[in-house]
Amino acid sequence: MEGRNRRPLVFGAPAGGMDGSSPRRATARCCRSQNTMISLCDLKPALAPLRADIEAAIGRVIDSGWFLRGRETAAFEEEWADYCGQRYSVCCNSGTDALTLAAMALGLRQVTIQANTLPLTGLGLHRAGAAVHLAEIGVDGHLLGPDEDAVPVLLYGRLPSAAESSALLFDAAHAHGWRPPSQAAAAWSFYPTKTLGAFGDAGSITTNDPALADEMRKLCGRDDLLQDRRQLTSRMDEMQAAVLRVKLRHLDRWLAERQDIADRYADWLAPFGLTLSGSSMHHLYVIRTDRRDALLHFLEAHDIHCKVHWPQGLHRLPGPWSALGEFPNTDAWCDTVLSLPCYPGLALPFVDEVSQKIIEWIEL
Ligand SMILES: Cc1ncc(COP(=O)(O)O)c(C=O)c1O
Repeated sequence: MEGRNRRPLVFGAPAGGMDGSSPRRATARCCRSQNTMISLCDLKPALAPLRADIEAAIGRVIDSGWFLRGRETAAFEEEWADYCGQRYSVCCNSGTDALTLAAMALGLRQVTIQANTLPLTGLGLHRAGAAVHLAEIGVDGHLLGPDEDAVPVLLYGRLPSAAESSALLFDAAHAHGWRPPSQAAAAWSFYPTKTLGAFGDAGSITTNDPALADEMRKLCGRDDLLQDRRQLTSRMDEMQAAVLRVKLRHLDRWLAERQDIADRYADWLAPFGLTLSGSSMHHLYVIRTDRRDALLHFLEAHDIHCKVHWPQGLHRLPGPWSALGEFPNTDAWCDTVLSLPCYPGLALPFVDEVSQKIIEWIEL
């Protein structure tokens, strides 16, 4: 249940500057050369120092002449389970497949998900044969009154609310570094931009239940036998596993960097009431403002790349789900969220610059 590097961000709380002074008086040392974009996410700085290790790992796979269902995947499964504090990890082709495999193995007939997630959560669960119901969120963005069928999505890396914590399955695609509660299975995505990202598609489910892990291995269709008539062909390849094994060794450091970035944004922006409350693994650093689109355009005009995760709730999109009732909180959420640049290797003066631009916009 505990996430690593947890430090609460208090919504709207007064905060001191980095040097103990008012953050608004602190001067950012801008090291951006002209016409350089500040990206939402740039994978290159974190990868550069790992290049030799990654090339060696890929070389090891090539030399082995073994590309699927091999030692790298088996080793990564052990290492990832251990990192997550769970006994088993079953690797597969994507986070969407991870949701499908977990829901199939758990035999879920009904699931409830929050409407402010992305379609892949709903699609992954629906493919398992579950009826997907959309639920409204609270003003804090978490599932409102989660029922026993809830599959909470740990959006942006935010840790589950107390009410969400008893769920049996989590969409943890954004929450690398979080340790799932002992009763739960967690579906992970290693999509390249995720906090732990592969060099292509990859995913995993972690669990403490040996029977569930066994069932999921059969459902992955790992060999050329028919193990289960519902099985998918969903494997992680050896290259991805080898790359992920190298990157996993740096994950704690990257999470700490994300926390530093988040703390810095909070120093600047919490006094303006823009930041979200609660603990997070900070896969994304998200703020909220009523004039979100105007701010997005202002930042784009200053070569600062931001993004909306996501502009519409699932209740507004056609898909294999049902939505009952009204979703005013979800609509308000989707109209106001904005993800700011946040990735390991993003220098803090850039965070200062983004924050100062936002404050400049507020004060226009
Ligand atoms: C919250 C969430 N769930 C599930 C997925 C699906 O993961 P994948 O793209 O690996 O299939 C994503 C991917 O972006 C995601 O953000």
